[in-house]
Amino acid sequence: MNASVTDAAPDLRADSAVPERWWTVALSEELDAGALLAICCQGIEYVLFRDSTGAARALRDQCAHRRAPLSLGRLTPEKYLECPYHGWRYDGASGQCVGIPNFSAEEKVPRNYRTGSYKIIEQDGFIHMYTGGLHVEQPAQFPARIRLGGLDGWRGGLTLAYPHEYLVDLLMDAPGAVLEIPGVAVINNHRYGDPLMVAGCVVSTFAADRAASVRGRKKVVGDYPLALVVSVAVDGHLAEAKLQTDAGEMIATVGIGMYPDKPPLSSVRWRGTAAAADEMRPLLAVRTQIDAHAVKSSKPFASRLRKTGQP
Ligand code: FES
Repeated sequence: MNASVTDAAPDLRADSAVPERWWTVALSEELDAGALLAICCQGIEYVLFRDSTGAARALRDQCAHRRAPLSLGRLTPEKYLECPYHGWRYDGASGQCVGIPNFSAEEKVPRNYRTGSYKIIEQDGFIHMYTGGLHVEQPAQFPARIRLGGLDGWRGGLTLAYPHEYLVDLLMDAPGAVLEIPGVAVINNHRYGDPLMVAGCVVSTFAADRAASVRGRKKVVGDYPLALVVSVAVDGHLAEAKLQTDAGEMIATVGIGMYPDKPPLSSVRWRGTAAAADEMRPLLAVRTQIDAHAVKSSKPFASRLRKTGQP
């Protein structure tokens, strides 16, 4: 099917309705092997892929011609993203259309034939995207408190039928409702000390126990053998959960990237590692379903600190 020059859609560079900010939207491996990764963040569709240099790129998942989803297209040998409908080709770095099949060799593609393009930072196996476009200062670092490096033991991702804002609050106030820790029960209502604000994160520590031991324990004890330290970035795009012994020795750590998908969904990605090399199995991950029972009994404590600055 041919495209006429005159039916080009408007320039799609600006998403003025979407707050301009960073979200952690994918794991590095998801873009391997020439993949086109379609994501939805805050209700807007994006497509992520790697260009000819191997750099991760993000474009609006909408062709500037007739708005076909570019994620249904293909990567050309030059690693341009080609629309599945009439074959317009896009440069991943700029969003500029660089080729239209029915143009003659003398015709130049107008500069306003382009789709939205977005700044990407790929770091420690996570891909972070800025929804405001390309022109943004690179942050010196994401919250220093969140560990991203060296989380190479296991990884995962899923979409939860739970709004992002509530998910972030739950991670702070009832992490056992969100996290799956095989053989371990997090005592959501047994917090050690007040939550703290540290380096852009709300940090809370919860008692945890071997699941088999929980029933036999008396209700009030101060000697739980395990602890779960949860750090959540105030803006809710990253979190870290660390399972450790009561003496503070790390057992397993997981870094979690989150973003609001199409409302009311949330998308979550994680990478984890264990202290013991022979324990490299998913010791800490995100549940496939939020534990509704734990949600009911949670109290807005750390989440209040996040929103108001007051515990
Ligand atoms: S919709 Fe025509 S080239 Fe994409």
